Amino acid sequence: MFNLKKIFSLILLSIYISFISCSPIINQTLSTPPLLLLISFDGFRWDYPDLYNLTNFNLLMKRGVRVKHIKNSFATVTFPSHFTIVTGLYEETHGIVANTIYDPQLNATATLDTINDTKWWSQNPYSQPIWVSNQLSNDSNQRRSGVIAWPGVNTPINGHRPSKYLPYDPTRKLDESFQQIFDWFRESDRTRINLGVIYHNEPDETGHEYGPISNEMNKTLQDCDNYVGQLLQIIDNDEYLKTNLNVIITSDHGMEEIKKNHTLKLKDYIDTSLCEVYGSRSFVNIFVPKKENIERIYKNLSVIPNYEVYKKSDIPNEYHYRSNVRIGDILFVGKNGYDIYLPDDNSSTELHGDHGYDNRAKSMHPIFYGFGPVFKENMLAKPFRSVDIYPLMSYILKIKERQTNGSFDDVKHILKDFPEETFSDKINLFISKIKDWGFLTVGCIIIVILISIVYTAVACRYSQRSIYVQPHYAPVRYRLLSHTEGSTNNLVASDSENEEELQ
Ligand SMILES: *[C@@H]1O[C@H](CO)[C@@H](O)[C@H](O)[C@H]1NC(C)=O
Ligand SMILES: *[C@@H]1O[C@H](CO)[C@@H](O)[C@H](O)[C@H]1NC(C)=O
Ligand SMILES: *[C@@H]1O[C@H](CO)[C@@H](O)[C@H](O)[C@H]1NC(C)=O
Ligand SMILES: *[C@@H]1O[C@H](CO)[C@@H](O)[C@H](O)[C@H]1NC(C)=O
Ligand SMILES: *[C@@H]1O[C@H](CO)[C@@H](O)[C@H](O)[C@H]1NC(C)=O
Ligand SMILES: *[C@@H]1O[C@H](CO)[C@@H](O)[C@H](O)[C@H]1NC(C)=O
Ligand SMILES: *[C@@H]1O[C@H](CO)[C@@H](O)[C@H](O)[C@H]1NC(C)=O
Ligand SMILES: *[C@@H]1O[C@H](CO)[C@@H](O)[C@H](O)[C@H]1NC(C)=O
Ligand SMILES: *[C@@H]1O[C@H](CO)[C@@H](O)[C@H](O)[C@H]1NC(C)=O
Ligand SMILES: *[C@@H]1O[C@H](CO)[C@@H](O)[C@H](O)[C@H]1NC(C)=O
Repeated sequence: MFNLKKIFSLILLSIYISFISCSPIINQTLSTPPLLLLISFDGFRWDYPDLYNLTNFNLLMKRGVRVKHIKNSFATVTFPSHFTIVTGLYEETHGIVANTIYDPQLNATATLDTINDTKWWSQNPYSQPIWVSNQLSNDSNQRRSGVIAWPGVNTPINGHRPSKYLPYDPTRKLDESFQQIFDWFRESDRTRINLGVIYHNEPDETGHEYGPISNEMNKTLQDCDNYVGQLLQIIDNDEYLKTNLNVIITSDHGMEEIKKNHTLKLKDYIDTSLCEVYGSRSFVNIFVPKKENIERIYKNLSVIPNYEVYKKSDIPNEYHYRSNVRIGDILFVGKNGYDIYLPDDNSSTELHGDHGYDNRAKSMHPIFYGFGPVFKENMLAKPFRSVDIYPLMSYILKIKERQTNGSFDDVKHILKDFPEETFSDKINLFISKIKDWGFLTVGCIIIVILISIVYTAVACRYSQRSIYVQPHYAPVRYRLLSHTEGSTNNLVASDSENEEELQ
């Protein structure tokens, strides 16, 4: 008996022990943060996939969303535009206003070799690349960003770097970047990334050298298309990526053909000893130390056909390119396809394609594709701005949205979470609301509305009669009802309509 009791209590004890040792291990795997891969093909014009019949790019739209084009920000050049994509800020706000920048406060110049210093990227506290926002988000300990070659990658920005990164290397092929980024995505959950960011230098270089419409461009684009094919294959062969990874493929700007005689030498028009000039061939910031020379230089430049010149305070609002010390006293911009040779530029190096022009010009617009679990499928969507990409990525990554110059409302139409509201959807919504309020409440509201209508009608009749018997009020009434007044607003076309017309 004693033995049996002992055995019985032993069994109970072991059950108890197994209970306390097992039950507290409530599987505490933290929820995996969302996965996003952002890829930029430098200088990928919005209409290349159609002009060159790019099979895999065309597949992307069936798989997700193709936005007709992106409305990018002025100036439409590489470093500024890429920083705009990852921060959601206009160039005047983030301060990367050109590929070659002069800062009078720092008394320093940034060129391709020196721009990797943090001072250029941390001009103000607003600049926070998405790779930093992702890592600062506190909802999970599993958020890490991996960045390859994106402008700004190899310097801390306002004190923060991505967890993993590789600097720009012109010899690195895109398939090597894919390999690296997916290795990072597939590491153990203690070290793996949930946000990957990749920059690729083509088709920009081919565009400059041979122009946007050329056999060489055809070849380069077929290469890009093959890379996209490889990307899709990698994702489809991995269940984890296939079900979880969202991908955005976009670009910084487009490309315009440069004809041989569509160029000028700046020193043929102004005395360049009176000023400092910084920029690229499409646009220059001119700093004039003696303010009395601004008007003289402006006057000389303003007579040149096919080029635009603005004093700083007159730069068009749509450029959002004014309120920063790094923007010159004078901005000189070629019309689409017209280039400028600076004094130290070797004019024997010809470009057959260029960018940097008015951001409203069609040929300056970049591509945008998105696919993965959050995106709608087989959708050709209406354009949005490059500053809106940051709020989109914040939403995908479930990050609390920061104040930027972008707007989530302008991008949500491409997301599954926001289905298109058809007319019948709206009716159903209305009916369900009525049900929520209860028929009695609705009945009361209708009665109150009816009473007010009747009351208003009676009141109007009474007041009309009194106006009728006092004829000196009549002209006032006629003036108020006159057809020409108040309707002028309808004649003012909206900005966005004008924008589409520019070539
Ligand atoms: C927690 O659950 C996940 C799947 O939901 C599983 O892969 C993992 O091994 C579990 N962890 C522990 C400690 O049981
Ligand atoms: C691009 O090249 C392919 C052959 O490589 C050719 O079939 C196609 O017509 C070319 N497209 C254009 C737009 O030149
Ligand atoms: C585009 O490419 C696809 C497949 O590569 C081919 O079937 C199709 O005929 C091409 N279309 C044009 C207009 O060249
Ligand atoms: C700016 O720096 C240059 C040398 O890089 C120097 O010659 C010049 O005096 C400096 N200007 C001011 C205002 O500090
Ligand atoms: C910037 O790049 C240059 C040349 O690539 C390098 O020598 C320098 O150390 C870099 N500076 C920083 C701050 O990373
Ligand atoms: C995340 O947590 C750290 C430390 O607890 C804190 O300093 C930081 O402000 C938090 N960041 C956000 C975005 O809440
Ligand atoms: C450029 O050359 C073409 C002919 O080659 C000519 O028609 C055009 O007027 C020239 N443009 C300028 C700005 O000189
Ligand atoms: C304006 O152009 C004239 C004639 O080409 C030149 O002599 C003068 O120096 C220029 N003025 C300035 C401020 O560059
Ligand atoms: C300009 O470039 C050409 C070749 O493109 C080269 O032969 C020449 O030496 C360069 N001139 C200067 C001043 O750098
Ligand atoms: C852009 O965003 C910054 C930071 O929120 C803000 O200070 C600035 O006023 C914005 N610019 C415009 C034109 O709204």
